Amino acid sequence: MNSDKQTKYTQAIWQITEQLREAEELDEALSNALTVILECIGCEAGSVWFLHKDSNRVQAAFNIGTESIAGISVENGQGIVGQVTKTGESIIVEDTSKDERFSSSVDEEMEFVTRSIICAPLKDQYETIGAIELINKLDGNSFDKDDLSLCEQLASLAAIAIGDRGLAIGEIEEKRTIISLRDIKKEYQVGDGVLQVLRGINLDIYENEFLVVLGESGCGKSTMMNIVGGMDFPTSGSLTIEGKDFSTPDEKALTQYRRDYVGFIFQSYNLMPNLTALQNVQFIAEISKNPMDPAVAIEKVGLASRADNYPSQMSGGQQQRVSIARAIVKNPTLILADEPTAALDFTTSIEVLTVIEDIVKNQGTSVMMITHNTEIAKMANRVVKLKNGQVSSIRFNMHPLSASDLSW
Ligand SMILES: Nc1ncnc2c1ncn2[C@@H]1O[C@H](COP(=O)(O)OP(=O)(O)OP(=O)(O)O)[C@@H](O)[C@H]1O
Ligand SMILES: [Mg+2]
Repeated sequence: MNSDKQTKYTQAIWQITEQLREAEELDEALSNALTVILECIGCEAGSVWFLHKDSNRVQAAFNIGTESIAGISVENGQGIVGQVTKTGESIIVEDTSKDERFSSSVDEEMEFVTRSIICAPLKDQYETIGAIELINKLDGNSFDKDDLSLCEQLASLAAIAIGDRGLAIGEIEEKRTIISLRDIKKEYQVGDGVLQVLRGINLDIYENEFLVVLGESGCGKSTMMNIVGGMDFPTSGSLTIEGKDFSTPDEKALTQYRRDYVGFIFQSYNLMPNLTALQNVQFIAEISKNPMDPAVAIEKVGLASRADNYPSQMSGGQQQRVSIARAIVKNPTLILADEPTAALDFTTSIEVLTVIEDIVKNQGTSVMMITHNTEIAKMANRVVKLKNGQVSSIRFNMHPLSASDLSW
């Protein structure tokens, strides 16, 4: 290292030590430290990630230089950051386009291009607690060993400060898990070959959350949802519902689960044409264990005045609201919705989303919704992205929007 660089680096270490000592909050200390590191090394963006042991995921606490990635998490072991937290070893990626360890899923979300990365573990006295990642040198070069060694030193200073001060890592509140998918795989025999549709899905669904699933057409969203809904079986992996193992199909238990626990909403409304709105809902209430009054369900979706109309007398949005009433009349714990607004225009979509929002807020229900509309994802508590049959990222949304705030 030349002496100019050495001086600059020594100053940075000094500055960061100071900041870590003075700051009252861990986040403040680390974000100040990150600013110094970015300026000193001269890079475009940087982020600090923490490992959450319970969920075995690594979550971005904050970042500088790009649109916020706070709340995004990846599996421990997955991607560059995940490998650093898993192994406790630093990684330097000189050229992301030539390095297969790099996954571009976060970039795609941010419309950002990562060229070069260094990532160093945050280790306290006992274990790896997270990682610091730096992206793209401003001078256009790739990162070198000097940069990595500085980043490592700063990361260890930061980790020691965290340990010494007993500063708590701001863990995002996790709700009770109702359904767990572990290493769920799904294969289809197609001609002579095997089509791998789900390649090891790991996902928890929490109580009373609005979960949105995004991903390109064909990536396996509906397949995953059908497995969660007990309408299809995985080839391997484990599915746990309320602590009970559902990995091996037990028809009786599954029928009960589908009937009492889950409500379904699809893109097509599937209403019975010769029954009125109310009768369509009554029909489901009659076969449920713990239904609400069908008239109340119809009222909750804002269709009290339309209760006696037949589907053919109603608009698409109204018919979809009847199908929501049919899903909620069972008082389900979970509602699965596969592109429920795909066939609707903007105004009717918002009407339908408002009803779904109300169900999550006031009924304590969880909703898992598949959509292609990224604007709808802004309403979610968490956004799961699937890519090629795997969960590529999960984002916790700190400030979900109301349906009425969306526009497209
Ligand atoms: N019964 C089946 N037999 C063979 N292949 C299937 C079967 N069901 C689904 N697939 C294939 O599995 C892949 C994933 O399908 P899936 O319906 O889960 O995608 P998706 O993410 O919901 O897509 P979209 O956004 O278009 O609805 C597709 O390539 C599909 O062709
Ligand atoms: Mg689908």
